[in-house]
Amino acid sequence: MRLLSVRLIVSLVLGVTLVSLGFSYYQVVAEKHALRADLERRAEVLGESLAGNVEKSWGSGSNQALQRLVQRFGNREHLIGVAVYDRQGEVVAMTPELAKALTVSPQALTQAIRADRDQSAFVTLGTTRVLIFALPLHHDDEVSGGLAIVHDADYIQAQMLHVWRETFFRVLAQVFLIVFITLLIVRWSISGPIARAAQWVHAMRTGRISSSQEMPNLDMFRPLAHEVATMAESLSLARSAAENEARLREEADSMWTADRLSVHLQTRLIGSRLFVVSNREPYIHQRNGKSINVIVPPSGLVTALEPVLNACDGTWIAHGSGDADLEAVDAHDRLRVPPDDPRYTLRRVWLNKQEEEGYYYGFANEGLWPLCHIAHTRPIFRASDWQHYQEVNRKFTNAVLEEIEDTPSPVVLVQDYHFALLPRLIKEKRPDARVAIFWHIPWPNPEAFGICPWQRQLVDGLLGADLIGFHVQSHCNNFLQTVDRVVESRVDWEHFSVLRQDHRTMVRPFPISVDLTDDEPSADSNNGFNYLERASLLRGLGVEATFLGIGVDRVDYTKGILERFLAIERFLEKYSTYQGKFTFVQIGAPSRTHIKRYHDLLAEVEAEADRINWRFQSDKWKPIVFIKRQLSHAEIAPYYRAADLCLVTSLHDGMNLVAKEFLAARRDERGVLILSQFTGAARELRDALLVNPYDIDQSAEAIRVALEMEPEDKQLRVHRMRRTIKEHNIYRWAGNLISELCEVRLDAPEDAHEKLAASVTIGAARSRRR
Ligand code: G6P
Repeated sequence: MRLLSVRLIVSLVLGVTLVSLGFSYYQVVAEKHALRADLERRAEVLGESLAGNVEKSWGSGSNQALQRLVQRFGNREHLIGVAVYDRQGEVVAMTPELAKALTVSPQALTQAIRADRDQSAFVTLGTTRVLIFALPLHHDDEVSGGLAIVHDADYIQAQMLHVWRETFFRVLAQVFLIVFITLLIVRWSISGPIARAAQWVHAMRTGRISSSQEMPNLDMFRPLAHEVATMAESLSLARSAAENEARLREEADSMWTADRLSVHLQTRLIGSRLFVVSNREPYIHQRNGKSINVIVPPSGLVTALEPVLNACDGTWIAHGSGDADLEAVDAHDRLRVPPDDPRYTLRRVWLNKQEEEGYYYGFANEGLWPLCHIAHTRPIFRASDWQHYQEVNRKFTNAVLEEIEDTPSPVVLVQDYHFALLPRLIKEKRPDARVAIFWHIPWPNPEAFGICPWQRQLVDGLLGADLIGFHVQSHCNNFLQTVDRVVESRVDWEHFSVLRQDHRTMVRPFPISVDLTDDEPSADSNNGFNYLERASLLRGLGVEATFLGIGVDRVDYTKGILERFLAIERFLEKYSTYQGKFTFVQIGAPSRTHIKRYHDLLAEVEAEADRINWRFQSDKWKPIVFIKRQLSHAEIAPYYRAADLCLVTSLHDGMNLVAKEFLAARRDERGVLILSQFTGAARELRDALLVNPYDIDQSAEAIRVALEMEPEDKQLRVHRMRRTIKEHNIYRWAGNLISELCEVRLDAPEDAHEKLAASVTIGAARSRRR
């Protein structure tokens, strides 16, 4: 910068000096010409008036008269003298001063006489510069001689010197002023904006600011600034893309995203497609007066599968349960969803009242649900329900067969306990299909499962699948033990597979998860955002409290909601200082209320909240706020973010995605998760406060510990759990499940006798021997 300034100054000085000198030179030359012309004009005027007089005196023939005449003219300004010559150039009369300097007749005079014309010439006499103006004299119209008027021209030179001296000082002042003003202009209009731009680019390059931050005002460089800003933005985009790529490369093995799943599925499903079958549909169209509302049901299964279908544009086949569902589909009972941003196909299957009653409410939810959840609600097995269950499984099979008709080697993911018979039914018709079933609920031990009158048919139906997935290994083990006892088969404990009737079924744990890929702690983690949000949420509920707890569940007896309320009551009893300060918000979506047990439970939960509130509540505070309705994900998220703790107290749960959703929402890395040890999630989320929900005192204590936990401890725990969820997110779940399924060899089943070694036990046959 300094070097630049020196160069600039030197160039300016040289430039301005040269220009000024150039102009001055012409000015001086012009001045010189003007002075000379002026002197010549004066000499001419003098000459003409003198010549007349001389010519008159010439006629008289008196040299003295001539001498007197020339002397009379001799004392004019700058005039050295006057001389009169005859035709031969001899002096006739001459002023004395001139006589000293001019010893020979000047050449101008000779030429004037010869040419009979005025002549003038600047010559040097001794050391003096003079103007000799000569004109011819006439007598009787003949040239009789000449007149020479000699002026001192030295003053012109002196005048020139004076002009040059003035020019020098003027040029000096000009150079100084111009350089000074130019430097000021450069500084204000060029260096300043450039320096500011450079600072801005530097700050952006070093990552101190982002390209979105506006560029400083760059005055006349605005067009350039625009270009620089655009370049900066591209640079920053390129940098973040590079960082992202590097990060993805770094995390390649651990990180799954929607994009990665999508690419993964494209490579796995070459020429094929993904078909998902579940009872619950992801979007329900419901009539509301004259309008139709679209509802996303409260289902862990829906939460988990939606991002997978979004990522790969497959077909989801499900029960059309909404009273306006029929109006939304095309002639093939299909529609594109999500409604706002269609990305995959939903195929609806219609059930009549009896089918829904027997298959869904009856066998699935009064039989299998309590059978698989050890929550001490007795399962009910009705033969008629079982009949409907089989029929509906066949109905769904037909729908699946229709959907996969034109797809070679389709990949079919069957979901949950509603469709235990589907895998075999599909495979019987389409052996080329790759079929997996994922069991979203626990699988109990064989003794517990053994009370189901149709356990053999259920297990046999499941074993039609190429792959059976559970959330955790213990559910796989329970299933294999059940298989071992119930059907004739070979169980390979080493590879966790079952060989039955020449068909091999792999059994694997795939812990389901949520859509968490962005693990950046949020910018508002330290600015008290969640306190404000909490205050406004509580205000909306008409409660004032310092601490907030949250629970989000379908109102289901497996969720331990009553036990949770008892724990809150015990906590307030034991730690009375929290009375008036701690409020627990329970969001409870009514579920399966057509079933008496669920209907009664809803009433019980309400009554229990009322009882506890009545016991402790004050003017502006109550311990439990029970929101008895289904809230959307967007409505629940602020509660997750604002809560000090989240209570998940399931008595038994396959995974429990509420625990993971709560952590996914905590980008601020705050909050404490209190988690039942009987959930699948407890296997992964070791940093939660694990409780036995039946132990009311332990849960009450966990609430105190959570509220009094050091912020660093909370942060570390949430950070670690979020990392686990991010690494094992829903995309990894789907990616692993589908990869495993695609690796299954469909044709030639391996020879059981060769492959199954010592680890193999022969099921059923052995149990029969006992
Ligand atoms: C559990 C089951 C899902 C079921 C959900 C909601 O998560 O595993 O299959 O969809 O509960 O129950 P619902 O009966 O309302 O579908």
